[in-house]
Amino acid sequence: MRAKHPIHTTLSTEAMNVLERYEQELGAKNIVLEKALLGMDKIRFKEKVDTQSIARVIKRVQTGIFGFDELVEGGIPEGFIVAVTGTPGTGKTTFSMQFLLEGLKKHDKCIFFSFEERIEQLIRQSIRYGWNIGEFLDKGYLEIFGFTMLSTEEIIEIIDTFKPKRIVFDSLNIFSDILDFRQSPQWRNITKKIKEKNITCFAITEKKHGLEVKEFDDFDFMADGIFFFDKQITHELDMQKAYIVEIQKMRLTKVNEMPQKFVFTDKGIEIKSSAGLAKTFEIHLKNKKHL
Ligand SMILES: Nc1ncnc2c1ncn2[C@@H]1O[C@H](COP(=O)(O)OP(=O)(O)O)[C@@H](O)[C@H]1O
Ligand SMILES: [Mg+2]
Repeated sequence: MRAKHPIHTTLSTEAMNVLERYEQELGAKNIVLEKALLGMDKIRFKEKVDTQSIARVIKRVQTGIFGFDELVEGGIPEGFIVAVTGTPGTGKTTFSMQFLLEGLKKHDKCIFFSFEERIEQLIRQSIRYGWNIGEFLDKGYLEIFGFTMLSTEEIIEIIDTFKPKRIVFDSLNIFSDILDFRQSPQWRNITKKIKEKNITCFAITEKKHGLEVKEFDDFDFMADGIFFFDKQITHELDMQKAYIVEIQKMRLTKVNEMPQKFVFTDKGIEIKSSAGLAKTFEIHLKNKKHL
């Protein structure tokens, strides 16, 4: 029956039934009625916003990474999707796993979807830091999908079944074409699910250039927050490189935008005080290029 109305495909089934009943009784197509029904039907597509029920207090999710949470008013607003981005080998995976570990300690369910590393490698790395993720896997608080080839539908089904509070995707460049991200129906469907369930999510993406170049991809525009990871010369005299994280964006949050130096300890990543970095980064900001 719907083929009769190829243009007005937005009519709901109920509206279509009304229209068809009238057409049968009148023996002709009733354009006025069809238009009226279409107008009324638009309500279907509008989300009803109940301003009273919007939470005024922003619930924040801690990363548990020493020195990091105070840079973002105590944590990441719950339900945010954060782009954990940067050049290779700069700590993105470690940082993200550590974020899940903090959730696990609070008995939040967590999922790590890795599109490039095997589950054994992720576990081995965690053992090096003394993180007892094996125990959380056994108890059913953590799911790791290593080297995953899951489809969008499967990912959504896993989220629906497992009901996680925190998710990591590592990395999205493998899952979807990052240059064409906003057009990607797969990612839109996953995002919709994550937002609907109020899950806090780290989405790792790769950058070809470090902090000295302004290079934004589609995902940076879409994400609620951006943590940029890099290695930089932070001491002009000895030319030594240090690991750096810069919080480039965090909606609903006053952030400390200073690039922060961090180190790998035997327990994981720790932020070091940014004091002394300011001068070096004046140079880096001055040299910042636009792509
Ligand atoms: N225990 C450690 N001590 C010092 N550096 C480490 C340690 N583990 C990893 N690294 C450094 O971290 C980098 C990899 O971290 P990773 O989180 O996998 O980075 P990314 O995901 O950004 O590629 C390695 O290149 C290594 O230099
Ligand atoms: Mg990685």
